[in-house]
Amino acid sequence: MKKKFNVLVVGFGYWGPILSRNIQANLRFNIYSICDSNSSNLNKAKNIYPSCFFYSSFQKALNNSKIDIVVISTPTNTHYKFAKMALIKKKHVLCEKPLSLNLREVKNLISLSKKNKKFLFIDYPFIYSESVTFIKNIITKKKLGKALIYESIREKAPYRKDTNVIWDLGIHDFAILQHLTNRNPIKFKVNAIKTKKGYKSDFANINLYYKNNFSAFIKLNWASPIKIRLIKIYFEKGLLIYDENEGIYKIKIYKKSKQGFNLEFPLVNFNETLKLFIDYVGNTIITDNFKNFNFNFSLNLTKTLLNITKNY
Ligand SMILES: NC(=O)c1ccc[n+]([C@@H]2O[C@H](COP(=O)([O-])OP(=O)(O)OC[C@H]3O[C@@H](n4cnc5c(N)ncnc54)[C@H](O)[C@@H]3O)[C@@H](O)[C@H]2O)c1
Repeated sequence: MKKKFNVLVVGFGYWGPILSRNIQANLRFNIYSICDSNSSNLNKAKNIYPSCFFYSSFQKALNNSKIDIVVISTPTNTHYKFAKMALIKKKHVLCEKPLSLNLREVKNLISLSKKNKKFLFIDYPFIYSESVTFIKNIITKKKLGKALIYESIREKAPYRKDTNVIWDLGIHDFAILQHLTNRNPIKFKVNAIKTKKGYKSDFANINLYYKNNFSAFIKLNWASPIKIRLIKIYFEKGLLIYDENEGIYKIKIYKKSKQGFNLEFPLVNFNETLKLFIDYVGNTIITDNFKNFNFNFSLNLTKTLLNITKNY
């Protein structure tokens, strides 16, 4: 058996355990150490991964030559510092979204990653999902004609002090749209509102306009008690609905016919999206192919989001 990549996970709150479960299930990786400054979250990690090494200080955790990759699932305002420290120590980095809300920081991390030839992965999970791959195929092959309107409703997520709802939830739609269209919006309108003291905008409506009469309408909020992750794409020849919360039939297609609409439920595989992302990370590290690594995806996404959120 080939050597496994040793992983240091920093941040074992809500998302860290979910990421860790998918990492440990991948035969290329071994969770070697876990760091969290909160002792009760570190105790939770000890219970799940009893044979790991545990740290409350990232600096100390990083100081180990056995670590190959650092996985960062701490709050956004720590990402730059931790990713920079890890890249300087010549570790690969997998950082949670958003990498940083600052373009200069994103550029610095990309330069460091290139200089030290260590990969910098960011977790935009949906672009690896089988549902989004299925949709991309429909769009590319024009199976339902031209895509006209993308509509997304994304509601309910934990309130966060260091971002707003556009950076936190909207980033998924911006990543999906960038992946599906390979384009940037040429015009946009944003309406964002904050309803909770001490936090930034927790509600937002965003309209995006692209070349060739393609538009996107995105509705986001953190406040709803009901979790909604629903995308509708209106095509010339029908409507595609992608409901991430559905168990099996996440995609439905209403195909236009002379009588009205015919409903189809295409069978799309439903591997956990994070599993597919972690597979991609492992496969990319093995190939060691820096020349083809797409740094522009995050750079472009950061620029778009900065533009959209400049008044919020
Ligand atoms: N990709 C996705 O779909 C997705 C989903 C949820 C969260 N996230 C991202 O994951 C990140 C973490 O979110 P979360 O909901 O798990 O937050 P959380 O607050 O639940 O967990 C963060 C953890 O980091 C620890 N931490 C904070 N500062 C630290 C430090 N200096 N050193 C060590 N540990 C520290 C905290 O104690 C906590 O356990 C965020 O960037 C968020 O945007 C991504």
